[in-house]
Amino acid sequence: MIKPDAVDNGYIGPILEKITGAGFKIIAMKYTQLSRRDAEAFYAIHRQRPFFGELVSFMTRGPIVAAILEKENAVEDFRALIGATNPAEAAEGTIRKLYAKDIGENAIHGSDSDENAAIEGAFHFSGREIYS
Ligand code: RTP
Ligand code: MG
Repeated sequence: MIKPDAVDNGYIGPILEKITGAGFKIIAMKYTQLSRRDAEAFYAIHRQRPFFGELVSFMTRGPIVAAILEKENAVEDFRALIGATNPAEAAEGTIRKLYAKDIGENAIHGSDSDENAAIEGAFHFSGREIYS
C-alpha cells in the first residue's frame, strides 16, 4: 500500500516508478480508502501496541493505493526497496528515505512474509481483479 501521507504529498507516481523500475510487476492495483474497520483488521497484529490508535487514524485519513506485486524473492526485495520502518534509519535511495516523514507516517507498507502477502492481497482484491 502507498499510505495516505504519500498519496497526499503527490508521491504516487514517483513511488510506482521506483517499484516497476526495481523489477516488480503490478498484477493488481486500486485507489481506495480504508474504513476504521478495514484498518483495524489489516493491522490486527498490532492491536496491543501503544501506537495502534494512531496507526488506524493515520491509515484511514485519506485514500491509499493498494497493489499486489510479483517478483522472484518479492517480500525480501520489496522490504529492501522500501527501507526501515523509521525513515531516519532507512538506507539512502529507499522509498521511505525519499518520501516518508517519520516512523508513523512512513509512506508505504510491504508484506512481511509470503503468507501475509497472500492474506493481504485477498483483503484488497477479489480473484477477478488479479492479473497474474
Ligand atoms: P508496514 O507493516 O506498514 O509495512 O511497516 P513495517 O513492517 O515496517 O512496520 P510494523 O512494525 O509492521 O508497523 C506497522 C506500521 O505501524 C506504524 N508504526 N508506528 N509510532 C510508532 O512507534 C510506530 N511504529 C510503527 C508505522 O506506520 C508502521 O509502518
Ligand atoms: Mg509490518
